[in-house]
Amino acid sequence: MKLLIEILRQADAVSAPYRQTIAFEAQPEDTVATLLTELNTADGLCDTNGKPVGTIHWQCSCLQKKCGSCAMRINGVPRLACDVKLGECKNGKLLLEPLRKFPTVRDLIVDRSVMMENLKAIHNWLEQHAHHSQKAADLSYDASRCLQCGCCLEVCPNFCADGSFYGAAAFVPVSRVLSQLTKDKPQELSALYKKNIYGGCSKSLSCHAICPAEIDVEQKLANSNAVAVWKRYFK
Ligand code: SF4
Ligand code: SF4
Ligand code: FES
Repeated sequence: MKLLIEILRQADAVSAPYRQTIAFEAQPEDTVATLLTELNTADGLCDTNGKPVGTIHWQCSCLQKKCGSCAMRINGVPRLACDVKLGECKNGKLLLEPLRKFPTVRDLIVDRSVMMENLKAIHNWLEQHAHHSQKAADLSYDASRCLQCGCCLEVCPNFCADGSFYGAAAFVPVSRVLSQLTKDKPQELSALYKKNIYGGCSKSLSCHAICPAEIDVEQKLANSNAVAVWKRYFK
């Protein structure tokens, strides 16, 4: 298939972004990740203005929807590059942009360290021996599949990287710890949850619909609210 690829590029964190368009023959069954590798290894590749295309910087690791590192905006939607087939592109057009809620490092690479900083700030750890029911184990297992990709934050109307609301990338991992608390073992986490998650979430659930790991995000929010806000503990 003939593909017209437009990429929002940026040489480094402080340079002005610019758009580069490349015409390329691609296979519909290939993924965006495969395409980016092909573009970066093609000999003498030029854009539609005849200018040479330098290395397109992007991140990947597993190429199997397991690590979250290849998240980017694909035709305007935050998705994993290793999960999107080129055959999905309407009218043979593909638009690639970095996630917008995080600072751009270079081309399609963004700095998502705020997600880890928020998990540290909210005290997402157990301080005492925990109660672990089968129900809590099932919830924890599903929550543990969070890739920390940031797609949920990209679509969240209330998240911004320097704000005090942490979004689904925090409340999904936090639900693992909260599900193991009992009445006798309250934790600072519950108070911080109320401040940095419950108080700022407008429950639009865009995060649930976009999650590429297909985690039941709504369930994690409901259960965490039950424990941290309404003091209903798992049995
Ligand atoms: S909850 Fe889903 S969308 Fe959000 S960071 Fe985890 S895997 Fe990504
Ligand atoms: S429910 Fe809405 S406001 Fe709350 S974290 Fe998800 S997208 Fe953001
Ligand atoms: S490279 Fe790991 S999720 Fe895409």
